[in-house]
Amino acid sequence: MNPVLDQIKFMSKIVGLGRVLSMRKKHAEGLKYVRGYVATTCFWSLLNNGLLDEIREKGSVEIKDFAERRGLALGALGSICEYLDGIKVIRYMHGRCSLVPGGKTLLEEPRGLFDLLYGYEPVLREIENLLKREKTYGKDVWRRGDAVARGSGELGRQFPFLAVRELVFSNGFRRVLDIGCGDLEFLFLLCERPDIACFGIDNDARALECAQRRLKQSDLRDRITVTLGDMFEVEDVATRFRGIDAITAIDVFHEYLLAGPDKVIDLLSAFRRHFPEAHLVVAEFFKLPHKWLRRIPTVTLEHHLLHALTNQVILPIGEWIEVFEKSGYRIVEKKLIHAIGHGYFVLK
Ligand SMILES: C[S@@+](CC[C@H](N)C(=O)[O-])C[C@H]1O[C@@H](n2cnc3c(N)ncnc32)[C@H](O)[C@@H]1O
Repeated sequence: MNPVLDQIKFMSKIVGLGRVLSMRKKHAEGLKYVRGYVATTCFWSLLNNGLLDEIREKGSVEIKDFAERRGLALGALGSICEYLDGIKVIRYMHGRCSLVPGGKTLLEEPRGLFDLLYGYEPVLREIENLLKREKTYGKDVWRRGDAVARGSGELGRQFPFLAVRELVFSNGFRRVLDIGCGDLEFLFLLCERPDIACFGIDNDARALECAQRRLKQSDLRDRITVTLGDMFEVEDVATRFRGIDAITAIDVFHEYLLAGPDKVIDLLSAFRRHFPEAHLVVAEFFKLPHKWLRRIPTVTLEHHLLHALTNQVILPIGEWIEVFEKSGYRIVEKKLIHAIGHGYFVLK
C-alpha cells in the first residue's frame, strides 16, 4: 500500500478520519501565528549578525566560514538556515546560503518593520509580567531605542518624511528647525533641494551621537547643524535659532501626553510666542477607531498595541486638532493617511 495512505488509515483508526481532517485544518490556523513568531526570531538572528546583508552583497555565503569569522555556534546557525530554507526565506544547500525572492523582499521595504519590532521585542518578551503588574515599563522594561530609531527611520523614508518634505517644499520654507531630529534622515531628504538650510535638535545623547556621525560622513556638513537641545527650553532654542521659516516635528509630541494634553498645549503656545514668524509642520500618528481596524486590520493594530504598552498616547484626530487650536495655532493644511494612521499638518 502507498505509505501515505497507510499512515492516514492508521491515524483514522485511532482518532477517526473526520477528526484527522479537522485537526489538520485547525493546526494550520495555529501554525500561521506560531510560525510568524519563530520566523521573525530566526530572521532577526541572521539580520542582526550581518549574514543577510552579506548574502545580499555577495550572492551567497558559506555558513562555516561565516560562523568562524563571527564566532557563532555553527550548529545553531545551520539549524536556523535550514528552518528559513524550509519556509522559503533563504536557500540553504551544501553549506551555502543565498536569498530567494521572498527573502529579498523582506530586506527591502519591510526591513523597517523587522527593525522596529526588534526595538519593542523586550516589551513583548515581558508582556506577561507587565500584565500581572510584576514589572513596569520605564522602570523594569525598556524598548531598544537604537532599533526603534533605525526602524522608524527606514519606514519614515518610505512615506512620512516625503509627505512632510512635500509640505515644506510646497510652502516655500527655506530655513527649517527640526525638533527631535533623531538620526537626521528627514533633514538629509530635505537637503536634496539645494536652497534649504537645516538645524536639528534632539535631547537624546545617543540619537545625537548617531546624527553627528552620519552628518560627518555626509557632504551636507555646511547645510545642516545638529546639536543637543530640549524642545521644552523654548526661549533658549529661539535665541539659538533665528530667522526660522518652519519648525518641523515628526512623531515627537505624543511622547508627552501621558498626563493629558496640557504639557503639549503649553509647549506649542510657547513656540507661537517665541517663533511668531515661523510655521509649525507636525506629523503625528492618530488613533483609529477600533471598529475601523476590525474591518481593515492594518499594521496600525500593532502600532497601537506597542504604543499603549510603552505609555505612549496616540490621540484621536479630533483631539490633536483641539491641541493645536488650544495652543493658538490655526490649521493651514491637513493631510490624513488612514492606511497608516498618520496625519500631516501645517500650522500658523
Ligand atoms: C519617535 S522619535 C522621532 C525621530 C525623528 N523625528 C523621526 O521621525 O525619525 C522622537 C525623537 O524625539 C526626541 N525627543 C523627545 N523628547 C525631546 C525633547 N524634549 N527635546 C528634543 N528632542 C526630543 C527623541 O530623542 C527622539 O529622537
